[in-house]
Amino acid sequence: MKLPNLLEAKKRTNEKVKVKTDEYILTHELKHLGEGLFYYVKTYGCQMNEHDSENIKAILEDMGYREASSMETADLVLLNTCAIRENAHNKVFGMVGRLKHLKESNPNLTIGVCGCMAQEEHVVEEIMKKYKCVDLVFGTHNIYRLPQLLKKVLDQKGQEIEVYSMEGDVIENIPTKRDNPYKAWVNIQYGCDKFCTYCIVPYTRGKQRSREKEYILKEVKELVEQGYLEVTLLGQNVNAYGKDLYEDYTMANLLEDASKTGVKRLRFVTSHPWDFTDEMIDVIAKYDNIMPYIHLPLQSGSDRILKLMGRRYTKESYLELFHKLKDKIPNCSITTDIIVGFPGETEEDFADTIDVVNTCKYDSAYTFIFSPRIGTPAAKMKDKISLEEKEQRLYRLNELVNQYSKEANEKYLGKVVPVLVEGMSGNNKDMVMGYTDTQKLVNVKANKDTIGKIVPVKITEVRTWSLNGEIVE
Ligand code: SAH
Ligand code: SF4
Ligand code: F3S
Repeated sequence: MKLPNLLEAKKRTNEKVKVKTDEYILTHELKHLGEGLFYYVKTYGCQMNEHDSENIKAILEDMGYREASSMETADLVLLNTCAIRENAHNKVFGMVGRLKHLKESNPNLTIGVCGCMAQEEHVVEEIMKKYKCVDLVFGTHNIYRLPQLLKKVLDQKGQEIEVYSMEGDVIENIPTKRDNPYKAWVNIQYGCDKFCTYCIVPYTRGKQRSREKEYILKEVKELVEQGYLEVTLLGQNVNAYGKDLYEDYTMANLLEDASKTGVKRLRFVTSHPWDFTDEMIDVIAKYDNIMPYIHLPLQSGSDRILKLMGRRYTKESYLELFHKLKDKIPNCSITTDIIVGFPGETEEDFADTIDVVNTCKYDSAYTFIFSPRIGTPAAKMKDKISLEEKEQRLYRLNELVNQYSKEANEKYLGKVVPVLVEGMSGNNKDMVMGYTDTQKLVNVKANKDTIGKIVPVKITEVRTWSLNGEIVE
């Protein structure tokens, strides 16, 4: 049993991270352990977790497991969890409660909890005390150990808990079962060293570790050869790529090299405004296959709150970057994340946030009420604002954000835009769906032969969160 420890997780060492290519091992026995059994993985949280689940699924299939169509028909259910806000946490415990009932009718069901919540000691304590139905807990740093851990669980009775608080090395031989046949995620960096005062990620994901560029570029090239049309480079703070690894190889260089693989569409998330360099902007502007779409989290428009958050930019420098991006990258769509109700946020601070939103008129924005996370500095800050007041602010912000989303979409009316069609539309049998280069969801009147292609689409109707269009022959 190895339990998580948040204090330990906070520590950063200067030790050089090693690349390991032989850490994921399957013995003959482990290769057959899951034969005849079905798994179901439920994923919460960000793209990083989505991609981890793709690794987890591939590992399970290496062990002989097959994917179940529902939890009810599975022999193994894994919850890949997110710790970013209280509601993510509550959703997971709600689901564990549901699984407990399922286990009453199917005692052979194995239940596992992994992901960011598994890195939090208070969560694991709660599971140990109150949720005996959970058989397995593992963290974000030891996914490659899943086969060995599952064997222990299947051999024994009682909970198996293995969570490493200090991150390990970069493991390069974990397989992936990609969910989407046209779009692929590629990790370029793990962890985060920014320690924004509200955020749990630097504790649950460990220190920033960039992947070596050779491995990244090899993966992108292979994806292109396999026919993938779009690659998204993933990290919590991709603009800082390489800083922990190279003297003179940056995100701008990586973007350029990845673009030269000839991938049709290249994207990246998430960009911290702090590390966004002019070189990066020039590369994005120069290469047509780097998509004109940037997620640029603002968090707050108030300098006072930004300082308390530890974001290290000001309203002014954020706006300067924003305008530079808009000026240099033609047709660039920009989206953001905003937190309201950070401890001590006054009406004046909030007005600064509204002011930035009125200036930037974002294509869309993800908005959140501040959620105190145990172990983070902001959780200890004095906060006199009532929840009602925070909800009011969120409501006012959302009204504005939605208005600008609609306005941004209205500019598309009558235009012809490239859409990567990826599947049938959810609500209409005669329509397919996909995304523009600027990451707008479009429902297209077209037949299903268009799936898996980038096609020109004329926009005929505009909604707040999506567009409708028809294919241009
Ligand atoms: N690495 C990204 C953010 C990842 S988390 C970045 O720095 O931009 C995604 C979003 O969740 C954040 O941008 C922030 O808006 C929100 N978030 C993170 N911690 C939060 C908290 N404690 N309460 C409310 N929202 C939070
Ligand atoms: Fe969290 Fe800040 Fe790191 Fe983003 S940059 S993951 S908000 S600590
Ligand atoms: Fe959540 Fe962990 Fe991602 S906390 S947002 S799943 S890095």
